[in-house]
Amino acid sequence: MKTNVYGDFACYYDLLGWSRFSKICAQRLKNFVRFRGKGDETILDLACGTGELEYRLRKTKLRFVGVDMSRRMLKQARGKNKGVKFIHGDMTSVRLKRRFNIVVSFFDSVNHLGSIAALCKMFKTARIHLREGGFFIFDMLSPEGLAGWELVEIRRKPGYTLIINGFYFPERTLAEITIEGFVNVSSGDSSGKTTYKHFLQKIYERSYPLDKVAESLTKAGFGNISVSSFDPDEPIENASRWFFVVS
Ligand SMILES: C[S@@+](CC[C@H](N)C(=O)[O-])C[C@H]1O[C@@H](n2cnc3c(N)ncnc32)[C@H](O)[C@@H]1O
Repeated sequence: MKTNVYGDFACYYDLLGWSRFSKICAQRLKNFVRFRGKGDETILDLACGTGELEYRLRKTKLRFVGVDMSRRMLKQARGKNKGVKFIHGDMTSVRLKRRFNIVVSFFDSVNHLGSIAALCKMFKTARIHLREGGFFIFDMLSPEGLAGWELVEIRRKPGYTLIINGFYFPERTLAEITIEGFVNVSSGDSSGKTTYKHFLQKIYERSYPLDKVAESLTKAGFGNISVSSFDPDEPIENASRWFFVVS
């Protein structure tokens, strides 16, 4: 599986609505620290993307460090969050030589890892960066959820058109997603000319059976594993997305 580097798509990630998922994650994290913490926790965000989580929680006392493998995503994150540290790195191997109260990784980010070995390495990264008594919180698309990427979709909005073409390979629990976009970047001057910026983004995502994920968490040194369905209306047996809180 090729690496999942976000290129030209990064500039339009927020505009195209991809960062909206952060709204839910920000609220969950806020609730979590309200009930389980002090409110001034240090948080490591693995695969932080465009830093939308940090932006949404900028008025709290939470202090973030974000890590992402895409320089283009990090550029967006830095532009939105002055004073927050964003580091270019691979979440399977990055070592920051400091520990945090909470490590998070949201919006399918762990699904971007191409093998169970890589997943295990990422879990180890999370554990190594946690203080005693800290929590690792992340979501993950289940194989059922990933199968939802078997689709062809055209989204036509006033500012852009997206063509999304996804294939799901059940034997490998792998989704190959191609996002082709045409974003209206017209300057709005008197020429009346409409200009579109074209981009092509390929994303590969994988999922694994729940027992394999739990086994990897145990191997990485986590003892308490709590998993629920991300969507409270879905029973855990056929949840499309899992929500993990582990320590
Ligand atoms: C779907 S985006 C999620 C971004 C952000 N967490 C959010 O909620 O919007 C997935 C992110 O994972 C990053 N990524 C993928 N593989 C990575 C890796 N091995 N190490 C660090 N970042 C990675 C991509 O660059 C991208 O920014």
